[in-house]
Amino acid sequence: MAFAILSSGGDAAGMNPAIKKFVDYCTKLQIETYLIYEGLEGLIDNKIKKASHQDVAGILHMGGTIIRSSRSKRFFDSQYRKKAYENLKAYDITGLVVLGGDGSFRAMDVFSSEFDISFIGIPSTIDNDIHGTEYCLGVDTALNVIRDALDKIRDTASSFNRAFVVEVMGRNCGYLAAVSAITSGAEVCVIPETIFAREDLEKRLKKEIDNGRRYVLAIVAEGTHQTNKVYEWIQEKLELETRVSILGHIQRGGNPTVYDRMMAFDFIINAVDYLREHSHSSKVIVYNQGQLSFKDIREITADKYKLSEHYLQAINYLD
Ligand code: F6P
Repeated sequence: MAFAILSSGGDAAGMNPAIKKFVDYCTKLQIETYLIYEGLEGLIDNKIKKASHQDVAGILHMGGTIIRSSRSKRFFDSQYRKKAYENLKAYDITGLVVLGGDGSFRAMDVFSSEFDISFIGIPSTIDNDIHGTEYCLGVDTALNVIRDALDKIRDTASSFNRAFVVEVMGRNCGYLAAVSAITSGAEVCVIPETIFAREDLEKRLKKEIDNGRRYVLAIVAEGTHQTNKVYEWIQEKLELETRVSILGHIQRGGNPTVYDRMMAFDFIINAVDYLREHSHSSKVIVYNQGQLSFKDIREITADKYKLSEHYLQAINYLD
């Protein structure tokens, strides 16, 4: 019996602390561990290496993932999944921990229904868009990276009479945009989950500008594809000189926050214990209302993440 870990899809801060804890905790339990490099692509190509303490020493504070990641199309082809299974069998790997998003879990769902490999998914994505869990590893760091950028943008926006339209990541999910807008005191937040009610906002902001407001901060989720429209609207209707800032991949970087590190440890310890206690599992570990629990992979992939009413309400109160 041996366990292995891989990261798949977009990297997220917190993956390295998770990888370190995985190797350290398994070593303590005298379980042999393997690192699978380059995600599902590496699993197919046999980039599997026995792990030692040296492989994971000094990585706790690092963003990204030292075992690298990939988005694999080949894994959806059965001949490559068979190859992946044979690679795992050759090392006697019976349990696999996957740090990834719902695309990766979908792939693992197919894989674990075909072969006798136990699998635990750890939701890891800055988008925080996985159905069934309130929290995904890495989102706290990403939010803090965005907060830092927005605080700086506010400095320059307020030094001129200028509006800033800031585009944040999140794929089709507005979580990063909504939480960032709320916690940075933005005036505008545009997310895929709601219709952008421009008219009311326009009236209010015009009035505020007449009364002395000098700058506006607008947060736009990439999934809306509305960044340019919001730019034109502010420039033309609010008559403020406007700049656009697309934060891009810096949102994926940075040293994991204390919260993401702690969550990485808790996820891993629980995942490893679960693998030890259950011979065939196909689960995702989730975090809701302060509790960790396990959900069947099908439950996770069956539906789409819905942004909670709490955030939708909060962005209506941005004034
Ligand atoms: O899923 C994480 C994420 O950063 C999304 O927010 C973004 O849309 C996407 O990945 C970018 O993907 P890539 O790194 O392949 O350009």
